[in-house]
Amino acid sequence: MWGGLARGVTAVGHGRWRADYVARLAEPTGLLGHLAANAMVESNTDLVRAVVAALDLHDGQRVLEVGCGPGQGVDAAMDAADLVIHAVDPSGPMLRRVGRRHRHAVRRRRLHLHHATLLDLQLVVPLQAAWGVNVVYFMADRVANFTHLHDLLEPGGRLALGYTDDQAMAVDDFARCFGTTHHPVTSDQVEADLRTAGFVGVVTVHHDRARRITIGCRPREGVDDRARTGTRGAAMDLTAPEPPDPVRTTTS
Ligand SMILES: C[S@@+](CC[C@H](N)C(=O)[O-])C[C@H]1O[C@@H](n2cnc3c(N)ncnc32)[C@H](O)[C@@H]1O
Repeated sequence: MWGGLARGVTAVGHGRWRADYVARLAEPTGLLGHLAANAMVESNTDLVRAVVAALDLHDGQRVLEVGCGPGQGVDAAMDAADLVIHAVDPSGPMLRRVGRRHRHAVRRRRLHLHHATLLDLQLVVPLQAAWGVNVVYFMADRVANFTHLHDLLEPGGRLALGYTDDQAMAVDDFARCFGTTHHPVTSDQVEADLRTAGFVGVVTVHHDRARRITIGCRPREGVDDRARTGTRGAAMDLTAPEPPDPVRTTTS
């Protein structure tokens, strides 16, 4: 219902309405932001859950969701294990929405909500895992963002990104109105930028016809992880994480 309504707005809306709605996908605020957020819950929850499942989270881990929006990833992580969860998003209304739903976890300091962009996030204790779904399009400098994620993770920490591949987006009527707020990506670009940022074992699985999940791993200690200053060395395969089970990623 919400996805249909959102598509209706972009189909019949013109000029400012449509531009305003699309801008709310980049930073959901106000009434249109909540409409966009409801559409995200309807359209993206399956992908978000598959991304979290690909990380195989365990009790006691510290994890981060980048661009949590209405918080489907936080919900999935809460279901997966007993974790300390950080979520970062520049949208205050989205963080309040997540905080209201999980106020008990916030009080117990199991959930930390950060009102910031990823590049402004600083954490004292390193993370075991991080993920972001439908957020890479809003990173003007992907390598800088991925490098920051690499540095927030502990050695061996894993990152999973979910997104729609640009080649699929280009033939989607809805996505065609995205304009300049979105920086479309292909899985080749995401993979290359992750390697440049120092990630190893980078693999992509198809969630469905259009959507992809790319995962990578910060190398374990003792392995030269400065891919960002060199080439993709053979040693990197030594620390490659198990690729996510494609069956799991398509059925979660
Ligand atoms: C399209 S929504 C996706 C929400 C949810 N992950 C999903 O897939 O349904 C993108 C979210 O990323 C947030 N965002 C945009 N740029 C960001 C950045 N640089 N760092 C962190 N979050 C960002 C937006 O505020 C928004 O809540």
